[in-house]
Amino acid sequence: MELRFASRMKDYEEGIFQVLNEKKEELVRQGRTVYNLSVGTPDFQPRQDIMDAVAEAARRPENYKYALRDLPELTEAVIGRYRKRYGVKLEPEEIMSVYGSQEGIAHIGLSLCDKDDIVLVPDPGYPIFAIGPSLAGARLMTYDLTEENHYLPDLEALGELADKAKFMIVSYPMNPICKCAPRSFYEALIPWARKHELLIIHDNAYSDIIYDGRKGISILSVPGAKEVCVEFYSLSKSFNYTGARMGFLTGNKELVQNFKKLRSQIDYGTFLPVQYGAIAALTGPDEPVLEQCEEYRKRRDALCGGFRSIGWNVPDSEGTMFAWAPIPEGFEDDTAFVMELMERTGVLCTPGSSFGKLGKGHVRFALTLPVETITQAVQAVKESGILP
Ligand SMILES: Cc1ncc(COP(=O)(O)O)c(C=O)c1O
Repeated sequence: MELRFASRMKDYEEGIFQVLNEKKEELVRQGRTVYNLSVGTPDFQPRQDIMDAVAEAARRPENYKYALRDLPELTEAVIGRYRKRYGVKLEPEEIMSVYGSQEGIAHIGLSLCDKDDIVLVPDPGYPIFAIGPSLAGARLMTYDLTEENHYLPDLEALGELADKAKFMIVSYPMNPICKCAPRSFYEALIPWARKHELLIIHDNAYSDIIYDGRKGISILSVPGAKEVCVEFYSLSKSFNYTGARMGFLTGNKELVQNFKKLRSQIDYGTFLPVQYGAIAALTGPDEPVLEQCEEYRKRRDALCGGFRSIGWNVPDSEGTMFAWAPIPEGFEDDTAFVMELMERTGVLCTPGSSFGKLGKGHVRFALTLPVETITQAVQAVKESGILP
C-alpha cells in the first residue's frame, strides 16, 4: 500500500540538517576533533536543589497521577518571579504552564487562528514562529529585521498589514540575530498594536542572557501590555531545565484562558516532579543565573572577539546564547560555507538561511562549549586558512 501523508509534511524535510549530521558523524568516525557549536542546548547543569526537588518528588507514588493542572505553588512561584525579576504583577488566571515555549508557540495559533488568518513573523526568525501558525492554517507574512532598522520591525511600514493580521510574534533578545530591543521599542509597540487591534506574542526565552549592561525585560512591564499581549517564558535557558520541558504563557487573561481550553483537550498536565523542580528553580536565588550569564559573556568574547582577532568581522552578541556571523568574503552560500568549515576545521555551526531568507549569507554559532574549547575552535579556523 502506498502511504499518503499530509502535504504539510513536505515542509518538514530534514534536508540540509541531515546532510550536516551525516558529515559530522563521518568526522567523528575519522577521529577528528569536532567543535559542535550548532545546537542550542545549554551545556551547564541545573542547580543541585532543582534536581533534588525533582528526585524527591519522583520517589512519591502519588506524583504519578495525571497532574491535570498547575500546582497552586507553581503558579505562585511564577507570580513571585515576575514580581521580583520584572516588576510585573500577575494574577493566577494570567498564567499557564506549557511543555516549553516550543510546544506553546507550536500550538497557540490553533487557539487563535482560522484558516487563512494572517500572522506576522520575523525574518530571520526562530523556525517555530512560522511553523506554529502554519499548523493552524494561518497565512504567514514576514517582517524584515534589517540593520537599517536596528533589527526592529518597521511599525509604520507595517501599519496596513497590522490591520489585517491576527497576531504578531516578537522576540528579543533575538535568536538567531542576537540583538536586543530597547524598552522604548516596546513602549511604541503596545499602543501601535492596540490601534491596529493586533495581538502580540512575545517570546522571552533569553531575558537572563544579555550582555554589556543591557537589561532583559518582560513585555508585560510596559503599561497597557496586558490588553494586547501574552509572553512565553522558558525555564530552559535561565535554569538549564531544558529537557524537563517547562515554560509558561503569561499575560492577557482571556488569551491565556482560551489557550488553556485548547490544551486541556490534548494534555493532562505536566508530570508533578517536573512541577516541583520548576518551583525550586523559580523561587531560588538569582546569583547562579547572573553567574551563568557572565560565563556566556566570556564565551561570547572568546568567540566573537576571537574571530575578529583573526580577521573575521563577527559582531559581539547583545544577548542570547548564540553569535551571528556574516560569512567570510569569497563565500556566497551559507550552507556551502558551513560544510566547508566543518570539513576543514571540525567547527560546526548552523546555516543562516534555515532561519529565513534574510538569514542567507550568515551562520549561527551556539555558545555551548567552554571558553578554552571555543578558543581552540577559533585557532582551528585560523590555521585552516579558510578566511581570506
Ligand atoms: C527563541 C527561542 N524560543 C523558544 C525556544 C524553545 O524553548 P523551550 O525549551 O522553552 O521550548 C528556543 C530554544 O532554543 C528559542 O531559541
